Amino acid sequence: MEPSLLIYYFSGTGNARNVAHWFSDVASHQQIPAETTDIAKIDRKRITSPPPGSLVGFVSPTHGFNYPPAMMYFIFRFPQSRGNRAFLMNTRAGLKLSKWFVPGLSGIALWLSAMVLLLKGYRIVGLRSIDLPSNWISFHPGVKEKVVESLYRHCKGITETFALKVLSGKKVYTAFRDIIQDILIMPISIGYFFVGRFILAKSFYATDACDKCDICIDNCPVKAILTIDNRPFWSYRCESCMRCMNNCPKRAIETAHGYIIGIMCLLNIGIMVWFWQWVGRFITIPAGNGWAKTGVTLTGWVLTFLVMVVSYRIYHYLLRIPVIRQLFYYTSFTRYKFWRRYKPSRKMISQLP
Ligand SMILES: Cc1cc2nc3c(=O)[nH]c(=O)nc-3n(C[C@H](O)[C@H](O)[C@H](O)COP(=O)(O)O)c2cc1C
Ligand code: SF4
Ligand code: SF4
Repeated sequence: MEPSLLIYYFSGTGNARNVAHWFSDVASHQQIPAETTDIAKIDRKRITSPPPGSLVGFVSPTHGFNYPPAMMYFIFRFPQSRGNRAFLMNTRAGLKLSKWFVPGLSGIALWLSAMVLLLKGYRIVGLRSIDLPSNWISFHPGVKEKVVESLYRHCKGITETFALKVLSGKKVYTAFRDIIQDILIMPISIGYFFVGRFILAKSFYATDACDKCDICIDNCPVKAILTIDNRPFWSYRCESCMRCMNNCPKRAIETAHGYIIGIMCLLNIGIMVWFWQWVGRFITIPAGNGWAKTGVTLTGWVLTFLVMVVSYRIYHYLLRIPVIRQLFYYTSFTRYKFWRRYKPSRKMISQLP
């Protein structure tokens, strides 16, 4: 029997995966044939068209106020439809302050993908954000287990209610509640897509505790970690999904805050200032000429990006020197004991495959 519900998900640390399974469990309880697919485990370029009449779902974390590129490109390439129904969900960085559940921010995550699917002929019947704990441990210490359990319990119920409604044929557009803030933060989503994510992808390194077990390499959903000089090397394919850093059995993966702040940011700010001064010596951009100004700014950004690529190669080379490795280690906040790694709720997912 062909499945009537197809869910495609991308997940770094398990939140989006769990949401996808909670949704498909609701369908299974109603005897609706459902199939849940991790897009990291399939050939994303060869997707067959969904059977006519089936409901298609996409579930993914939010990265920099957007879907991560793996999910975005998957949706861009997804086969066209003649009227299939589709729903989109994003997991976000939820918080719990005292008794209050505080939502994360979606930005363009759902809107851009919904537009693409609409143009491909899908009827969008559901748009829903789910505020599970943040897994962004390059940025902040992992959320405490008690809070994780509480957010998970809260979000499982929300997902099931959403699933019941969508499966019964209702349209649920809860995401419209956030549309104003989503529009306001749109410029940041664009900045993150073109610049921010590349800086983040270059923030990881393996410390001396690494025993080269290759677990990070084998489990990376986008195969972004290479072996160079017998050490893990994070390539630009990295989506900063946080899986490797959270799952390393030796806790050997750190975020190089010292390198990011001290070298990359300062170096790049310096380059931008120097570039504008250099341009100023040769060209006078007439006041009000927005195009010329944009052109120079874009050239500055391209230059900055190139410097970033080169500086990361030098950084990785320097990591071979023990004293330099120690220097980066001592300036990484993630090395401190209180900087927990993120683990999704064990209680709420124990029944999942
Ligand atoms: C690099 C990165 C960027 C993120 N950006 C956002 C964001 O813009 N808005 C938000 O609400 N959460 C953001 N988060 C938090 C994740 O979307 C959230 O924790 C999600 O539930 C993780 O899902 P996963 O476990 O399936 O990977 C970000 C996390 C990472 C690692
Ligand atoms: S998982 Fe950890 S210990 Fe294993 S290779 Fe990766 S960094 Fe090294
Ligand atoms: S390298 Fe690590 S953070 Fe980057 S995509 Fe792979 S598992 Fe995720």
